[in-house]
Amino acid sequence: MASNFSLLLLFFVFAGTFLETEGKLTPTFYSSKCPKALSIVQEEVVAAIKNETRIGASLLRLHFHDCFVNGCDASVLLDDTSSFLGGPSWKVRLGRRDSTTASRSAANTSIPPPTSNISSLISNFAAQNLSLRDLVALSGSHTIGLARCTLFRSRIYNESTIDAAFAKSLQGSCPRSGNDDNLASLDLQTPKHFDNLYYKNLLKAKGLLHSDQELFNGTSSADKLVKIYANNTFAFFKHFAKAMVNMGNIKPLTGSQGEIRTNCRKVN
Ligand code: HEM
Ligand SMILES: *[C@@H]1O[C@H](CO)[C@@H](O)[C@H](O)[C@H]1NC(C)=O
Ligand SMILES: *[C@@H]1O[C@H](CO)[C@@H](O)[C@H](O)[C@H]1NC(C)=O
Ligand SMILES: *[C@@H]1O[C@H](CO)[C@@H](O)[C@H](O)[C@H]1NC(C)=O
Ligand SMILES: *[C@@H]1O[C@H](CO)[C@@H](O)[C@H](O)[C@H]1NC(C)=O
Ligand SMILES: *[C@@H]1O[C@H](CO)[C@@H](O)[C@H](O)[C@H]1NC(C)=O
Ligand SMILES: *[C@@H]1O[C@H](CO)[C@@H](O)[C@H](O)[C@H]1NC(C)=O
Ligand SMILES: *[C@@H]1O[C@H](CO)[C@@H](O)[C@H](O)[C@H]1NC(C)=O
Repeated sequence: MASNFSLLLLFFVFAGTFLETEGKLTPTFYSSKCPKALSIVQEEVVAAIKNETRIGASLLRLHFHDCFVNGCDASVLLDDTSSFLGGPSWKVRLGRRDSTTASRSAANTSIPPPTSNISSLISNFAAQNLSLRDLVALSGSHTIGLARCTLFRSRIYNESTIDAAFAKSLQGSCPRSGNDDNLASLDLQTPKHFDNLYYKNLLKAKGLLHSDQELFNGTSSADKLVKIYANNTFAFFKHFAKAMVNMGNIKPLTGSQGEIRTNCRKVN
């Protein structure tokens, strides 16, 4: 009887190993092998955001950049980061392993620049198997965080698709030359709250980046989605959560692929 039970246990251990090497991400990946993993990550992230609010925005953006360059493979454990700032939450799929390489040129070509037009944005996201809906919902991340003057300068001096008073209000801290690193909020209204005001800004030609405003210009294919999210926070949160899962599923390394770095900044 006892040996049968041991055999049964042994079977589950092997089955567990087999499932693991089969390589699927799952929200319960650490439940038995490291049950405190998520609460430890959560505590650390809460403490970091308490110390410096922008860390929430930085982590969100880091996850985007990680995923768009050869898949989400730096094991960034984003445990519902945005929910600490209010906003949507989703079950993060776990079991990611770390890459053993990094590519500057892949980073340069895969991450869309803020000068992108809507057709480039669509094709850039499509190359990651992300839809127009994913693009518009994920861009809602710009409801928090900051951008540097050098990245929106030409927009506030040279573009016609921008609210004139809004452009003027930014020119004080972002002169025609110099002060490249001066910062402005991506969402001028509530820069620290995860809400749908980013989309309301776009309807009023108050997107900070050229790429933001490309999502709503009166005739763009994204216009309809911007209108929906501007009107309906629930729809935005729902689509954002789904899109984050889609983005997080870009080519993760699982099973025995890659490695688990002992020092995050170095290949073992
Ligand atoms: C659609 C294409 C996108 C473009 C062209 C774009 C571009 C940018 C740029 C230029 C900045 C300012 C960076 C700086 O000043 O150095 C920024 C900030 C930010 N982006 Fe995006 N982004 C895009 C999509 C996304 C996505 C998909 C996410 C997350 C899911 C995201 C999250 C953020 C966040 C949170 C910040 C603020 C970071 C901070 O304050 O530290 N962005 N983005
Ligand atoms: C708190 O934030 C500051 C930047 O605002 C940073 O230099 C410091 O390392 C942070 N401290 C902790 C404990 O995270
Ligand atoms: C990537 O872009 C940076 C900044 O524009 C540039 O300095 C660097 O040379 C580029 N590297 C590659 C490999 O394309
Ligand atoms: C969008 O940008 C791409 C890349 O810069 C360019 O080739 C294309 O002509 C632009 N499309 C439109 C409609 O402006
Ligand atoms: C997108 O989907 C295709 C077909 O399933 C797949 O071959 C490709 O690797 C996927 N690309 C990414 C970036 O996940
Ligand atoms: C605005 O456009 C003009 C003409 O194309 C150019 O000379 C100038 O450098 C641009 N200014 C900014 C701030 O981008
Ligand atoms: C809006 O975007 C569409 C799609 O790229 C483009 O054809 C159109 O010219 C743009 N309209 C304005 C006013 O910029
Ligand atoms: C705006 O949202 C409400 C529900 O929040 C919905 O009843 C209404 O149809 C929406 N209007 C538009 C134009 O999407």
